Amino acid sequence: MHMIEVIIKPAALPAVKAKLSSLGILGCTALECKGYGKQKGHTERYRGGRMDVGFVPKVLLKVAVKDEDLDKAIDAITSAARTGQVGDGKLFTYPLTKVVRIRTGEKDQDAL
Ligand SMILES: Nc1ncnc2c1ncn2[C@@H]1O[C@H](COP(=O)(O)OP(=O)(O)OP(=O)(O)O)[C@@H](O)[C@H]1O
Ligand SMILES: [Mg+2]
Repeated sequence: MHMIEVIIKPAALPAVKAKLSSLGILGCTALECKGYGKQKGHTERYRGGRMDVGFVPKVLLKVAVKDEDLDKAIDAITSAARTGQVGDGKLFTYPLTKVVRIRTGEKDQDAL
């Protein structure tokens, strides 16, 4: 099992959610956040305006997936979030050791 953490443009959220749902990946946490990447001292577009890349509003998604779903989830997220402009985002993965579905007590793969 892996945790995918991906930072995307807020406008990309509906497309990413729809793509993950279409793959049967049905759980996800979204957090509003701010960040910056490599464009030090430059600007990025946000809601049609230019924004200082000091800190630009982003959405952080956390998605836990089975290993067999990892590559297709990465492809789905990145293709749905890509505009080709700077600031499209960045994706990180971590190995996951435990998952528990609280209502049922199911564990690990069965809990995803
Ligand atoms: N090295 C990093 N560590 C943690 N978060 C990062 C890192 N790089 C980028 N981020 C996060 O991802 C968001 C989007 O990054 P961004 O897409 O601008 O990366 P980039 O490397 O500058 O690529 P691009 O040149 O396409 O803009 C940032 O606002 C920040 O929240
Ligand atoms: Mg950038």
